Amino acid sequence: MLALPLRLGAHWPAVQKPLISTSTRWFVFPYPRNVSLNGNSPRDHFDRNVSRIPANSTSITGKTNDFVSVSLPKDSPLFGLEDLLVSFILGKKRATEVSHLVWKSVVQKGDTVIDATCGNGHDTLAMLKMVADESCKGSVYGLDVQEAALQKTSSLLEESVGPSEKELIKLFSKCHSKMDEVLPKDTSVRLVAFNLGYLPGGDKTIITQSETTLKALEVAKSIMVPGGLISIVVYVGHPGGWEELKTIRDFISKLSVEKWICYEFQTVDRSWSPILIFLFKKC
Ligand SMILES: C[S@@+](CC[C@H](N)C(=O)[O-])C[C@H]1O[C@@H](n2cnc3c(N)ncnc32)[C@H](O)[C@@H]1O
Repeated sequence: MLALPLRLGAHWPAVQKPLISTSTRWFVFPYPRNVSLNGNSPRDHFDRNVSRIPANSTSITGKTNDFVSVSLPKDSPLFGLEDLLVSFILGKKRATEVSHLVWKSVVQKGDTVIDATCGNGHDTLAMLKMVADESCKGSVYGLDVQEAALQKTSSLLEESVGPSEKELIKLFSKCHSKMDEVLPKDTSVRLVAFNLGYLPGGDKTIITQSETTLKALEVAKSIMVPGGLISIVVYVGHPGGWEELKTIRDFISKLSVEKWICYEFQTVDRSWSPILIFLFKKC
């Protein structure tokens, strides 16, 4: 039997005990780390708000004893996406695939969104498909500090979308800490996405840095519309990756629990696997 233990995320070291005992693999189930606990322990809160199905029941894949299924509270911005998130935690779905589906649950046609790290352009293209409507009102602002990345993004868009959709995209050779400078005054943004690290297949020395990532997160926070999302994929397998993650966690720890709901997901048995972070601004 493959019964997977469930434990709370890294933000509460004191309660990082398996909630369902022993097994062959570990994974972290996501949990809103800044949720108000109303005086109860995180464990009490978890028990009240996250229902668990015994590990030996039929799983969401239809197989028995595969993994533990859970459901988030109905008012969670991730409600309904639990199976997808568990698949990520189990290493069955890629970080980008999961983030795109989470973005889809937030982004509406006609929205303004920002790709803070264009890279090869896959995220920019996914965002464009989400915002583009028939009246061509949506906007995607893409930033990267690397010309090679912006060229790759342009080429991908060139071969993937028509001229009217392309009009909705504006690319900038600029650090994401200055993303507000490229927006028209008083623009509200529904999504800012960071896919940190270096350009895959490119120059590995050009890499996101804690200091500018932090500045960019502050700016993203200030332009975010209620109901919007800051989405971050963090890679810790390169030098500076852990430091960047720590900086991001510090930033999150200062967000108001009245205004933000934050989640962090990781496949724990693969310590270098990407970490997914979603920061939802409450309506
Ligand atoms: C992992 S890649 C992004 C992948 C991309 N989103 C995609 O879909 O292919 C990270 C990118 O961040 C860029 N980058 C590094 N520092 C940056 C900064 N300060 N501002 C904006 N982009 C930056 C790198 O040049 C690199 O292209």
